[in-house]
Amino acid sequence: MTTWLLTGGAGYIGAHVARELLASGRQVVVLDDLSAGHRERVPADATFIGVSVLDTAAVRDALTRYDVTGVIHLAAKKAVGESVEKPLLYYRENVGGMVSLLQAMADAGTRCLVYSSSAAVYGDPPWSPISEDTPCAPLSPYGQTKLIGEWMVRDEAVARPLSWVSLRYFNVAGAGSPDLGDSSANNLIPLVFAALDRGEAPRVFGTDYPTDDGSCVRDYIHVSDLSEAHVAAAALCESGEVATVFNVGTGRGASVWQVMATVSEVVGRDVGAVAVERRVGDPPELVASVDRIAGELGWSASRDLRDMIASAYAAHR
Ligand SMILES: NC(=O)c1ccc[n+]([C@@H]2O[C@H](COP(=O)([O-])OP(=O)(O)OC[C@H]3O[C@@H](n4cnc5c(N)ncnc54)[C@H](O)[C@@H]3O)[C@@H](O)[C@H]2O)c1
Repeated sequence: MTTWLLTGGAGYIGAHVARELLASGRQVVVLDDLSAGHRERVPADATFIGVSVLDTAAVRDALTRYDVTGVIHLAAKKAVGESVEKPLLYYRENVGGMVSLLQAMADAGTRCLVYSSSAAVYGDPPWSPISEDTPCAPLSPYGQTKLIGEWMVRDEAVARPLSWVSLRYFNVAGAGSPDLGDSSANNLIPLVFAALDRGEAPRVFGTDYPTDDGSCVRDYIHVSDLSEAHVAAAALCESGEVATVFNVGTGRGASVWQVMATVSEVVGRDVGAVAVERRVGDPPELVASVDRIAGELGWSASRDLRDMIASAYAAHR
């Protein structure tokens, strides 16, 4: 039986990945400073360590004490707008966090790493769907820190034995169970529910984009599908030498208007979404090419937009 350490394992995605890893028969150690996570989301049969990934000695100690096979590095700051206002915070936490983690892994001799990257590394790509070979040009400090993290992993693997997979998540949504919803108010679906709670009309930012209905198109991926991709990536790292980047999405786009229509179906009434001006920095369309992850990892998403919105709504309630 192998043991995996999850940085950020008390967060939205990490809590799902922890459960999926346990269900696969692996042992789990969660390392999280609880700056955004929830202690009660850590499964009872996982070990919890309440420190920052910036504490290299504590990470090294955990890797050694629990004889950790590999790390899934989810811990990060993730709000794009905040990263524009506080870039140094993002460089300290996300880039500094990766420096600290890789140092601790080198000291402890830990050889497997799955890294939470993001579609934000692509910026506003000239074509869609986006393959992993598309040039990266992030639009925000957040996206920059995610891309720098990928470079650091790749460079470290040249210097010492390291099997690694970077997963570029597209728009993560939904909940594996009602107690595990996305509690941050950064993503579209939680923002829609928050607006409905306040008795306000959800807003559609921009209706003149070059897309079928004029609103932005994104590739929404169910957090349970995403968690299954992590277990497959962990197994790939365990099986031998690997060094690769995978997009994680469905390969299908949904527009903001389509999301609003599906929310209306799920809640059983027209949510009355209203069109407002574009926001600065929203690319028109971000849809993943999922050929590489299907071919090399044997993984593909099985849940659709309605599954995501219905499970997110159940969690929200
Ligand atoms: N949610 C998305 O749509 C999305 C999309 C692409 C990539 N990602 C990436 O996925 C990862 C997880 O995202 P999430 O949505 O679960 O976010 P989240 O904020 O719910 O989880 C992040 C977790 O990391 C912890 N953390 C933050 N800084 C830490 C530190 N220095 N030391 C230890 N723990 C720390 C937080 O307490 C939290 O539990 C992040 O790396 C994020 O960049 C998320």
